[in-house]
Amino acid sequence: MYQVAILGATGAVGTELLTLLAERDFPVANLKLLASARSTGQRLTFKGEEFNVEAVDDRSFDGIDLVLASAGGSISKAWAPKIVEAGAVMVDNSSTFRMNPDVPLVVPEINPQAVAGHNGIIANPNCSTIIMNVAVYPLHQVQPIQRIMAATYQSVSGAGARAMEELKTQSLAILDGQAPKADIFPYPIAFNLFPHNSALNELGYCEEEMKMINETRKIFSAPNLRITATCVRVPVLRAHSEAINLEFSSPFSIVQAREILSQAPGVKLTEDWQANYFPMPIEASGQDEVLVGRIRQDISNPNGLELWLSGDQIRKGAALNAIQIAELLAAQDLIRPATREVVLSS
Ligand SMILES: NC(=O)c1ccc[n+]([C@@H]2O[C@H](COP(=O)([O-])OP(=O)(O)OC[C@H]3O[C@@H](n4cnc5c(N)ncnc54)[C@H](OP(=O)(O)O)[C@@H]3O)[C@@H](O)[C@H]2O)c1
Repeated sequence: MYQVAILGATGAVGTELLTLLAERDFPVANLKLLASARSTGQRLTFKGEEFNVEAVDDRSFDGIDLVLASAGGSISKAWAPKIVEAGAVMVDNSSTFRMNPDVPLVVPEINPQAVAGHNGIIANPNCSTIIMNVAVYPLHQVQPIQRIMAATYQSVSGAGARAMEELKTQSLAILDGQAPKADIFPYPIAFNLFPHNSALNELGYCEEEMKMINETRKIFSAPNLRITATCVRVPVLRAHSEAINLEFSSPFSIVQAREILSQAPGVKLTEDWQANYFPMPIEASGQDEVLVGRIRQDISNPNGLELWLSGDQIRKGAALNAIQIAELLAAQDLIRPATREVVLSS
C-alpha cells in the first residue's frame, strides 16, 4: 500500500485521477490532495470518504511514495526537486520532463520496460500523442511505419476544466443572441474551430504538433521516423479525434490491419460500414480504449493506410495512462527504490 499525493487534484486530469485510483483499486494507504491556495478547504470524495484539498507547500511530500502530478508544467518543474528529495516517484502529466533523456516517457501498451530506468520522475506523454500511438504502434510492430501524417480534432477539455466551462458559456451566449466572451482560448470556440493556439516555431509548427512528432519518436525508439501533424481545437467537450495517414514500405493489407487492431491492447475497433458508423468523441468519452475505425487504403498511395480514431484524452490521454504507469511501478516494486540519482533539469 502506498502514500499517494495528487498535485492538481481539483483539475480536469486531477479529478479523473481520483476516480481511476478508486475504480482500479490502486493500493492507496493514504491520499493527499494538493492544489493551489485557491482550493484550500475544498473537499473531494475518494471511495466514499471526503478528503480536504490542501495548498501545496514545502512539507507536502514528506512521507509520500507516489505523486501523480497534473498541475501544469511550471508547477511540476517547481516541485519536482522536493518530490524526488522526499523519496517519492513522480508520474508527471505536464510536458516539462518528457524529452529529458533521463526521464522515461511511457505508454504502457508500447514501452512498459522503460519504467525500470526511472530516476524519480516518469513522464506521461501528450494526450494527442498517446491516443495516436496506442492505435498505430501495433501496425508499426508488424511492418515499420515510414511516415505518419496526422490531423487532430481536439476537444476543449484538453485545455483544462475552465475551458469546458468556456465552451458551455459561449454556446449559451450565442444561442441567446449575445457575443461570446473568450477568456481561456484566444478566440470563440463555440460554433467555431481554430488551429491549436500553442506557441509557433520558426517552421510554423505549434508546440502541440512538435510534441506529437518528438514524443512519438522517443516512445517508439525511432528517432528518424517521419511525422507531420496539424492540430486543431474543435467545439467538443471531451475526447480528441484524429485522422491518421500511415505510409509503409510496401502495401499493408486492410484485412490484416483490422485483425491486428481488433486484438491490440487499449484499442477498440469501431466500424460499421453499412451504417456509416465510426469512432465519435461522444462515444469515446469515459472509455479506456481508443476507438479506431474507417481503416481504408489511401487511394493516392499503394503503401498508405488511413485510420480515424477518437480517444478520451483526459482518461487514456492523461489520467489512465498515469495510473497504468503507477501500476507497472507497483508491480515491479519500483516505488521508493533504495538509491537513485536526482533528476532536476527539464
Ligand atoms: N486536460 C487534458 O486533457 C490533459 C491531457 C494530458 C495532459 N494534461 C496536462 O495535465 C496538466 C493539468 O491539466 P488539466 O487539464 O487538469 O488542468 P486544469 O483543469 O486547469 O487543472 C489544473 C490543476 O492545477 C492546479 N494548480 C494550478 N496552479 C497551481 C499552483 N500554483 N500550485 C498548485 N496547484 C496548482 C489547479 O488547482 P486550483 O484548482 O487550486 O487552481 C488544478 O488542480 C497540464 O500540464 C496539462 O497539460 C492535460
